[in-house]
Amino acid sequence: MDIEIRERQIQGEEQEVVLSALAASAARQGCLFLEIGSWCGDTALILGRAAKALGGKLVCIDWWKGSPGTELFEVAKKKDVYSFFWRRVCGAGLEDTVIPIRARSEETAGLFKRNDFDLVFIDGDHRYGQVSMDIEKYSPLVKRDGGILCGHDCDGRISDFDPEFLDEGRDENFHESIHCGVVLAVGRAFEDYSIDYNIWSVRAKDGGWAPTDIEYPLQKGQFAPPPIGVTGNYNITRYGKFVYAIPRSRGNAAVTEDILRKMPDAVRAKTLKEVLKTIGEEISPCLSPVLWDSYKGFNLIQYGERFFAMSQTLGNIDITSVSESELNKYKGLGLCAEAKDPIGTKNIVDGLSHLFPELVEEGYRGFNIIAYKRMFYALSQELGPTDLRAVEKQRLKELIKTSKCVIAKTHQFAKELIDLLSARQARKELMTLNQKVKALEKEVSERDSKVKSLEKEMAALKAARG
Ligand SMILES: C[S@@+](CC[C@H](N)C(=O)[O-])C[C@H]1O[C@@H](n2cnc3c(N)ncnc32)[C@H](O)[C@@H]1O
Repeated sequence: MDIEIRERQIQGEEQEVVLSALAASAARQGCLFLEIGSWCGDTALILGRAAKALGGKLVCIDWWKGSPGTELFEVAKKKDVYSFFWRRVCGAGLEDTVIPIRARSEETAGLFKRNDFDLVFIDGDHRYGQVSMDIEKYSPLVKRDGGILCGHDCDGRISDFDPEFLDEGRDENFHESIHCGVVLAVGRAFEDYSIDYNIWSVRAKDGGWAPTDIEYPLQKGQFAPPPIGVTGNYNITRYGKFVYAIPRSRGNAAVTEDILRKMPDAVRAKTLKEVLKTIGEEISPCLSPVLWDSYKGFNLIQYGERFFAMSQTLGNIDITSVSESELNKYKGLGLCAEAKDPIGTKNIVDGLSHLFPELVEEGYRGFNIIAYKRMFYALSQELGPTDLRAVEKQRLKELIKTSKCVIAKTHQFAKELIDLLSARQARKELMTLNQKVKALEKEVSERDSKVKSLEKEMAALKAARG
């Protein structure tokens, strides 16, 4: 797979929702936001849009060279990531909102004044020293009256993990799939803070910091950590104070379920080494795609840290040879979905199912009711089996005009429209019957008057003869 410039850094829709809610909560007329670490602009676009809506600005600080020791660092040696970022910013119409500063964050804090920013988002170098430094240098820049300081990749609180493990991984960006540096730096900097889907946040309050406790339209939660790697039979994942080997058939997200972690076929130990020794298998870094499951016509595939649902209509597609742009095309067509874990892919598939017509009621007053693209279509059974995906707009208009189709937002409303159509049809039939009766009555009365005049004529003739 072409992951040369891996655009997507933000994880799942959940993080978009959380970051948007934080931005909305900090935004005011003419607001000023700051981001450390923008890469290709996933989070910058979210923050930039929120700032633009209120005539504000977003300062993006990044040296656009990736973080040392990460895949991004290697990518940036070969690719012009900054140009890619700026093209995206312009494509989103944010060129007058986003102010990029191409430098290391440690060099730029002095450019700003205390209290300058309504929101600062930290997502640069994830090593302990660097995150601590970003927090120390940039927190005074946040407005004291309710400004927000937040950041990415906080996989939990210090107390969730073994101190030795955190210490072991503090100088790496990512250690056994946990951002130890971020967990330690945030945990040491603040007494209390919010974590929502791995985004940490605090709000300036009474001269100190308090959790933001923002509301957002999702169940509050945290992502399951990605697996450290896979073995022949297990997914190896660090969760809290232990490393677990969970049978692959259960999916990685199983590690967050207490009951599944305690199943007899799950193995746990304090260190990765111990777990591998117990199961007697070798770990590899999830580099080949693994088919987890199939669900509602989709194959659920894990590839590295990414989880995909690929429509089975694509055939036996080899995900390692699909480029990012092809993937995006499939995503746009509803043939592919990506999430942070297998459960997430299933949720998205559930959400995508509206792209496939589904018969929800057959033969209601001679109509079939079909759910499709979040609407309900009632099609007259006279039309025979009809695939809505193949019906063109013009044809649909004709069907509506000729009362062979109605479209409604809910199943119930579709039925009410059918009731209305039937009532209208019945009234039409009644009116024609009424007209027929009237015509017959007219004929009868004409005949009556003819009979009467004949009778009169006969009576006159009789009288003449008489
Ligand atoms: C994880 S990426 C940021 C992802 C981004 N927020 C997004 O949503 O796509 C980390 C970024 O931090 C940048 N970075 C690393 N060290 C830095 C430093 N000392 N100063 C500024 N930026 C740095 C890297 O160049 C990289 O673009």
